Amino acid sequence: MKTSIFYAMLCALALALGLSSCQMSKSELKLEWQGDSLVVIHIANPPKYLLLPVEENAAESQVRLDTGGAADTDMDVRLAQKKVDYFVPFELPAEAKKATVRIDRIAQNALCWEQMKLSDTFDTVNTDRFRPVYHHTPLYGWMNDANGLVYKGGEYHLYFQYNPYGSIWGNMHWGHSVSKDLMHWEHRAPAIARDTLGHIFSGSSVVDVDNTSGYGEGTIVAFYTSASDKNGQIQCMAYSRDNGNTYTKYEKNPILTPFDGLKDFRDPKVFWYAPEKKWIMIVSADKEMCFYASRNLKDWTYLSVWGEGYGVQPRQFECPDMVQLPVDGNRSRMKWVMIVNVNPGCYFGGSATQYFVGDFDGTHFICDSPKETVKWLDWGKDHYAAVCFSNTGDRVIAVPWMSNWQYADVVPTRQFRSANALPRELTLYRQDGELYVSAIPVKEVQSLRKEMKDIPAFTVNADKEYPITPLLDNNKGAYELSMRFTVGTAGVMGFRLSNEKDEVVDVYFNLPERKFVMDRTKSGIVDFGCKSRPHALEAPDKRMSASINYIDDFALATWAPVVEAPSHSLDIFVDKCSVEIFLDGGRVAMTNLIFPNEPYNRISFYGKGGSYEVDGCKVYRLGM
Ligand code: FRU
Repeated sequence: MKTSIFYAMLCALALALGLSSCQMSKSELKLEWQGDSLVVIHIANPPKYLLLPVEENAAESQVRLDTGGAADTDMDVRLAQKKVDYFVPFELPAEAKKATVRIDRIAQNALCWEQMKLSDTFDTVNTDRFRPVYHHTPLYGWMNDANGLVYKGGEYHLYFQYNPYGSIWGNMHWGHSVSKDLMHWEHRAPAIARDTLGHIFSGSSVVDVDNTSGYGEGTIVAFYTSASDKNGQIQCMAYSRDNGNTYTKYEKNPILTPFDGLKDFRDPKVFWYAPEKKWIMIVSADKEMCFYASRNLKDWTYLSVWGEGYGVQPRQFECPDMVQLPVDGNRSRMKWVMIVNVNPGCYFGGSATQYFVGDFDGTHFICDSPKETVKWLDWGKDHYAAVCFSNTGDRVIAVPWMSNWQYADVVPTRQFRSANALPRELTLYRQDGELYVSAIPVKEVQSLRKEMKDIPAFTVNADKEYPITPLLDNNKGAYELSMRFTVGTAGVMGFRLSNEKDEVVDVYFNLPERKFVMDRTKSGIVDFGCKSRPHALEAPDKRMSASINYIDDFALATWAPVVEAPSHSLDIFVDKCSVEIFLDGGRVAMTNLIFPNEPYNRISFYGKGGSYEVDGCKVYRLGM
């Protein structure tokens, strides 16, 4: 060990704790090098956290709280080598006299040794200008898929793929937030932590109302995939007897292992199938979905497989869900909707959510449409891993992750990465003999409406701009627009949201082409390192218009087909870094991220080739 370096570090850490000179009477920390890249940190009287400095581009080091137990797990942390991007808290055992932390694969001259701090607090006050106001985000760190969504005792539990040790993917835990109204979220400690079996990948939860598992009536039982290089992807279970706050992992995990050496076998969705009084589990198995059944949530038998060749091809199936929805609002005629998240597969590149309408006989899913039929739950680029809450009675509420695997880890936020899109209520509607799902934000969002500005009806004539400035006084970038267009002679009818910097989101109907378009090409920061691949569409589709210019993965327009109708309604939700549009009561949903350098505070309507009516536009500031 190099004594001088060690002594200097000791002083630095003591100072970080606010102690004068190196007379440490409270928390104390000693580094012991074992070889060139393994450090054992001995901490006397540990405070709550060891604050670890992170450099996002650095290689991962392995950090482990060493209790000497078999459950000790390495966490991968990008410890700062040359610069500190931010700190993450590494929790130390409460009320212990000492703690030992081992760090592997890190050089002795890395900057982290100077910067590491012991602390009783970790500051989570927001530092990101793009943090949404009314969308759920983690306090800090990385988030992807919503997991284990369950409603119990008046509380919605939103678990999510979470990295508590950095704002890029890694160390999958189930993070945890709780809400009574799907809008105001209280952040809780992660509910299920990465362990020696692997990362805690996506999954679902159920309320075991009849105590089929033996853990007690009303226990919440969670299902997830443990993923590691060593064990592959295996399905595991955990249960909560304190209403979803903490979970105990089942001692006989895994409950299901892949067959034939299948590599991609994950994201278990469990639901109760009342007609046969049994539980069903769907697991995404490469490009198909596998069905299993159980009476006790622990022992599962194989039922069937579905999906080969269905939807966009050939794409990885992930995060299944299956829900029942009434046809034409008639609860005695229910249809099953299979939600299949695919990556890649989005028309516009990257990840997206498809669904299939059909029947389920307790063993097989039978899709109503031919294999090549593709139905999208959302037509934007930032809607993925959408799954639904369990135990919500007649309401079917989906929560998407609002990003895309193409660029989720490089978007220009730091303290946190990724938000959820607005929770959406799903219903079926019929069009040209086919059943489709519409997605509309849950009604609870209306409780966020603050001041309203009412823009009276007016006619838009071709080749003229109709600007309205400001859109809102004191506009902080969190608002809702509700408007209706009556179709006239114009071929194009639309509006632009823009700011003083001429950053713009362009939203328009191209009626001759029956397209509804959202163009974020010039929406603000668009060049944040997402691989600029000109015309890089993974799923070119013949219905795409050559008139839409695809520049790269982020700077592009997305579009959806629209039916001919005398008028169209639009509900638009803007929240710092996102625009979600719900057309005609959610028949088309379109969710796209944006990163404007200042809020768009001007709306300008325009038309081409004739006139149309704006039948009024309401602008609401949304706040918590
Ligand atoms: C989907 C997904 C899941 C997996 C999880 C890992 O976004 O790839 O299939 O369980 O993310 O974080």
